Amino acid sequence: EPRGLSRRGLLGLAGAGVAGLGLGVGGDRAVQAAVAVASPAAAYPFYGAHQAGIVTPAQDRLHFAAFDLAPDATRADLISLLRDWTAAAASLTAGAAIGEFGAASGSYDAPPEDTGEAQGLPASGLTITFGFGPTLFETAAGADRFGLASRRPPLLVDLPHFPGDLLEEGRNGGDLCIQACADDPQVAVHAIRNLSRIAFGRASLRWSQLGFGRTSSTSISQATPRNLFGFKDGTANIKAEEPAVVDEQVWVPAADGPAWLAGGSYLVARRIRMTIEAWDRTILREQEAVFGRTKGEGAPLSGGTEFTEPDFSLAGRGDAPLIDAAAHVRLAHPQQNGGARMLRRGYNFVDGNDALGRLDAGLFFISFQRSPEQFSRVQLSLARHDALNEYTRHVGSALFAVPPGARRGSHIGAALFA
Ligand code: HEM
Repeated sequence: EPRGLSRRGLLGLAGAGVAGLGLGVGGDRAVQAAVAVASPAAAYPFYGAHQAGIVTPAQDRLHFAAFDLAPDATRADLISLLRDWTAAAASLTAGAAIGEFGAASGSYDAPPEDTGEAQGLPASGLTITFGFGPTLFETAAGADRFGLASRRPPLLVDLPHFPGDLLEEGRNGGDLCIQACADDPQVAVHAIRNLSRIAFGRASLRWSQLGFGRTSSTSISQATPRNLFGFKDGTANIKAEEPAVVDEQVWVPAADGPAWLAGGSYLVARRIRMTIEAWDRTILREQEAVFGRTKGEGAPLSGGTEFTEPDFSLAGRGDAPLIDAAAHVRLAHPQQNGGARMLRRGYNFVDGNDALGRLDAGLFFISFQRSPEQFSRVQLSLARHDALNEYTRHVGSALFAVPPGARRGSHIGAALFA
């Protein structure tokens, strides 16, 4: 099966990389250290065919924000906002301040153009990714707010209600979104703060989410991180080094339409609360059965090592399948879902605790796919049968169309208004 072969191929490459560095057993940690050392200086270009922050090696930190346009905002306001955001994002991702910093901006009688808290910090691998929500294309009170109704991608509609969804007020939707990822939390927060400030009067924050640790790898150069259940997460993810898979599963081809979205993608965000107190009282055998992988190595319960393709047909004692019928990796696997895959790029979060002393913790799930249908298909199969559901709860949801990258001299989403 080609998918299995390519995984094994990737493993071979990753292994060669480690061997090349002269690292033996336990090299995982050394690779992680090497990546961590290299990252502060990393700067990813903002302009390009695709937006950065999708196949970019997943950074360690996230600040995600959804915005709504002001009730009286016009089409001209929207365009000027995207223009201003584009210019600011190009500066920020290069590790530069917005405009001149401090008194150099010429006036003590105005607030500085840049808020200043990232002054002296390197680019830290910052990427800023913009998306458009379904409501941007909606007609409000009979009027087509921004003259975009006819440009709406037919697939850009609210995600369906999935069994078990417990969505909370104030954690859903949005006209626009910005995903800021960096290896320094101060840099990611500085980006969202300044982009919100620039939007003042035209758009305001609807909801936002901080993430403190990546839960996926998007490149074979990265060691697989762990989620808050302590399991390796991102093993079978789509990797940047598989361009044919990225083309097939992540980028919207021109043939799919609309034309302005070609080379873009669809972003799904789900705030998934994890009841870690219940999980922490669950025996190891059950924890591993829930995922269908071992906790230490991340290997499928059907045998092998982390990157071995799971064999769902293998049975053990009493003819019981080695990977449970309700195991997360079985139900999420493309074999179960008509070949549908997605590029996962989520983050761990802990937002304090509730009145009962339980952490408000979980996974802020983000995935990029060519069509929202890929996510919905997998999520429907998970929502119905996944053993993991006993320990998780989906409390926030949003879908955005992510336009292609901007050309220098132009702005994000320019083709939408052409
Ligand atoms: C695989 C954790 C929610 C889709 C995995 C793996 C873990 C994991 C540990 C195995 C390692 C890997 O291949 O990455 C979680 C946790 C979740 C969650 C803790 C919620 C808190 C979701 C959701 C979706 C999803 C909502 C999509 C609807 C996938 C896919 C795979 C996967 C596609 C790879 C399956 C394969 O090809 O083998 N997840 N996941 N996960 N998960 Fe999740």
